[in-house]
Amino acid sequence: MDEEKGILPTGEYYTPHMNRYREVYERSLREPEKFWSEQAQVLDWFRTWDRVLDDSNPPFYRWFVNGKLNVSYNCLDRHLKQHRRNKAAYIWVAENGEEKIVTYDGLYRRVNNFARALQDLGIRRGDRVVIYLPMILEAPVAMLACARIGAVFSFVFAGFGAQALADRIKDSEATMVITADGGFRNGKIVELKKTVDEALEMTSTVRTVVVVKRTGHEVNMEEGRDVWWHDVVKDGMNYVEPEWMDANDPLFILYTSGTTGKPKGALHGNGGYSVWVANTLRWAFDPQEDDRWWCAADIGWITGHSYIVFAPLILGLTSIMYEGSITYPAPDRLWEIVERYRVNILYTSPTAIRTLMRYGEKYPKMHDLSSLKTLGTVGEPINPAAWKWYYENIGGSRCPIIDTYWQTETGGFMISPQLGLGLVPLKPGSATFPMPGVDPVVVDESGRELPPEQKGYIIYRRPWPGMFLTLYRDPERFKKVYFERFPGNYFCGDYCVKDKDGYYWLLGRADEVLNVSGHRLGTIEVEDALISYKEVAEAAVFGRPDPVKGEVIVAFVVIKDEFAHDRDVVQRIRKRIREDLGPIYVPEEIHVVTKLPKTRSGKIMRRVVKAVALGQLPGDISTLEDSASVEEIKTAIEEFR
Ligand code: PRX
Repeated sequence: MDEEKGILPTGEYYTPHMNRYREVYERSLREPEKFWSEQAQVLDWFRTWDRVLDDSNPPFYRWFVNGKLNVSYNCLDRHLKQHRRNKAAYIWVAENGEEKIVTYDGLYRRVNNFARALQDLGIRRGDRVVIYLPMILEAPVAMLACARIGAVFSFVFAGFGAQALADRIKDSEATMVITADGGFRNGKIVELKKTVDEALEMTSTVRTVVVVKRTGHEVNMEEGRDVWWHDVVKDGMNYVEPEWMDANDPLFILYTSGTTGKPKGALHGNGGYSVWVANTLRWAFDPQEDDRWWCAADIGWITGHSYIVFAPLILGLTSIMYEGSITYPAPDRLWEIVERYRVNILYTSPTAIRTLMRYGEKYPKMHDLSSLKTLGTVGEPINPAAWKWYYENIGGSRCPIIDTYWQTETGGFMISPQLGLGLVPLKPGSATFPMPGVDPVVVDESGRELPPEQKGYIIYRRPWPGMFLTLYRDPERFKKVYFERFPGNYFCGDYCVKDKDGYYWLLGRADEVLNVSGHRLGTIEVEDALISYKEVAEAAVFGRPDPVKGEVIVAFVVIKDEFAHDRDVVQRIRKRIREDLGPIYVPEEIHVVTKLPKTRSGKIMRRVVKAVALGQLPGDISTLEDSASVEEIKTAIEEFR
């Protein structure tokens, strides 16, 4: 195998069709209106659009103008007429092995019944509903029920803490929260309802909390505000007419981290988003009617929204949905599920692969993985060693690895190998080529296109249907963050190299956004939390490269004098971050120093802290106010190691 030219899995099915991909890709750019009109047929529309793309007010691009549809109708109702009524929509597995299978008809009934409950509780089209649920079937049911009646949902990952939840409730002005008494993880209960109660003390808009009974442990239910799911959902079949939504009406808000301020609410619409997620799934993974698709992400992140809920349901596929940790009760959890349900396509993160790789080949070898046809990864660059391990030990050197590069804002895959359009030879670590309609270019600081093999910023020269509509209630920030740096182009914040064969290699964030285990977190969120604590005077937070998680969080803090002799202070800070922001935000290292490097105007030089702590050259420190701070960082790190 010539690795320079790329790897092709063995087997009849995977023959390269570079020409076919090229042909489709080039046509998508040459005649976008016609191309997207055809692709939009993946959905059933109540009314056809007047125009495919309105680009008269950039960067507020509008796709399928005046087209009307309902996403829940597309995920459910229409399948009942297409011989999928009795087909499994989800095979749900809990950490303790409990299993539930829900058919398309069953999901349709649950969604209608819950949509009726939402209406009975006063939720109307356009209202915002926060969903804070673990990986249980009620999660997709709640999302689809909101979509059915035109309510805008905002899913908050159940691993987030009370402050993070409160910020999202406040920004979206949600009037309802849908949650559970708790969830299960690593055999323990995660207190969800308790966190909701804490968050609601910091907010004022929520009138109703709907609580799913999942764990059954005792929780506080507030009279007049909190209701049980099973009490408000009527039995039987309560049909709710799907709303005619405009293609550009909002479907959901998903908060994601940036470099400044609070998380940004990426707003996705009904039409373009749905066309995008369904087509990208088809192109990248080529799922067949009888395949079992397993996107092993959490629904609380964009990966779960797009590829556990909307895309697979629009395409009428059967998904595995798993609630729990990948190493519980043992590190063969994923492989055991693959074998038990004869999964055909497995889509997970490089961090998951690196974590499981550490336990050795023994665990995958315990299971028959021959049902697998295709593997996928998402969320962060995959290093060649992890790629090869996945390819050989999980895919038996038979399954292509579809490395999908994309973001919350892009709605769906942007750069990825495309089995459905003809597989190109794969290069471990490269996401290969752009999806149809995606027009990337790698540029330098000044926006000039770089020649092959040079590292620069990846930007996009034209809009695509899955692109977010705006930042919720902040169109100015939308323009500023994404479209000002390279005017007229979408800037996503990533570094990239295009090699001489035209393959794209995504190299991670070019800004101070962190990527921990494939999860996007803001340094600024951790810093803001730290300095809100009475013990902390100053804080600088950054990411340190980590062989398993991609990056881990490191914090340097200055403790106020009155707490200087308090030996538990770091422990307390850790605990507070876990409760306020969530476990993934807890820094791996917290170093206490007496001062941080600052500019003469008093700004903390995070860049310098990071460079010194990582043993790199700190760059220009001529504006540094007090160089003793640099020495202190060095000493702190040396003592730590
Ligand atoms: O840096 C890129 C990285 O994850 C960021 C997007 O994070 P988020 O919005 O949370 O969405 C994650 C799931 C799509 C990107 O800016 N990223 C995502 N996928 C890849 C990746 N980096 C390299 N290769 C990927 N396949």
